[in-house]
Amino acid sequence: MQLVTEDNITDLAAARWATAHDPRTGELMSALVRHLHAFAREVQLTEAEWMAAIQWLTRTGQISNDKREEFILTSDVLGLSMLVVQMNQRLDPRATPATVLGPFHIDGSPVREYAEDMSEGVRGTPLLLHGTVRDLDGAAIGGAVLDVWQADDDGLYESQHAEVDEARLRAKYTAREDGSFAIRTVAPLGYTIPMDGPVGELISRTDISEFRPAHFHVLLNVPGYRPLITHLFQEGADYLDSDVVFGVKEQLVVRYEPREGGTMPDGTPVEGPWFEATYDFVLQPA
Ligand code: BEZ
Ligand code: FE
Repeated sequence: MQLVTEDNITDLAAARWATAHDPRTGELMSALVRHLHAFAREVQLTEAEWMAAIQWLTRTGQISNDKREEFILTSDVLGLSMLVVQMNQRLDPRATPATVLGPFHIDGSPVREYAEDMSEGVRGTPLLLHGTVRDLDGAAIGGAVLDVWQADDDGLYESQHAEVDEARLRAKYTAREDGSFAIRTVAPLGYTIPMDGPVGELISRTDISEFRPAHFHVLLNVPGYRPLITHLFQEGADYLDSDVVFGVKEQLVVRYEPREGGTMPDGTPVEGPWFEATYDFVLQPA
């Protein structure tokens, strides 16, 4: 009989979990056991601290639902989401880099025409972002669908508005045959991640800034190319160097050119100030 001691428990538990029927599950679980035990040994985890952590995890599960994903947020603020993205998306340097998905993407956004406004009724400075979807050699990719979503001027996404039951600040734009696309919206603002749950409670006990720099999200899933989940950030925005979820990449920062009145490139008249930005998305073959 092998008795359990402080010295042998890690090997015993890792060996037990290595028996998982699927070999990869065995590898993941036994490595997880070894790293968790190493953590507990390194910090000399107390029973009270362990119980506090369990209760924090319980609250994180309890606050999550089909509209709120506090575990994704946890992974994001720990830098784990971005680490996993970087390890799995080692793309050609010519390709548009990937960044975190975040917890606010909603499937089935409405289809909008070239340059059609997706910001109906939401306050903000109009923004037209246009460009071309290309492959690594610069050739246009026609028909790519750009699934776009962003927060409003209160920093809230559609799923954070209990009273909103139609699509808000999200749309799918299809690139034309020559790869060109145009997204019309309002310029996004910086915002804070949800601070009213267990993640916010923990962050507020640190000097971590809870802000994300102004950005919108784009997802491109084009047959024959690697799916791309990314953001575009506004050049000069606050928090570019302190993004709470580590999502900023230099190649994703775009200049918003200030414009005044006149017509947008698709001929739509505009009154007052607006922004024009150009960006080409470059996809890597699958
Ligand atoms: C977002 O940009 O929507 C987001 C990403 C990670 C955590 C919270 C929000
Ligand atoms: Fe966002």
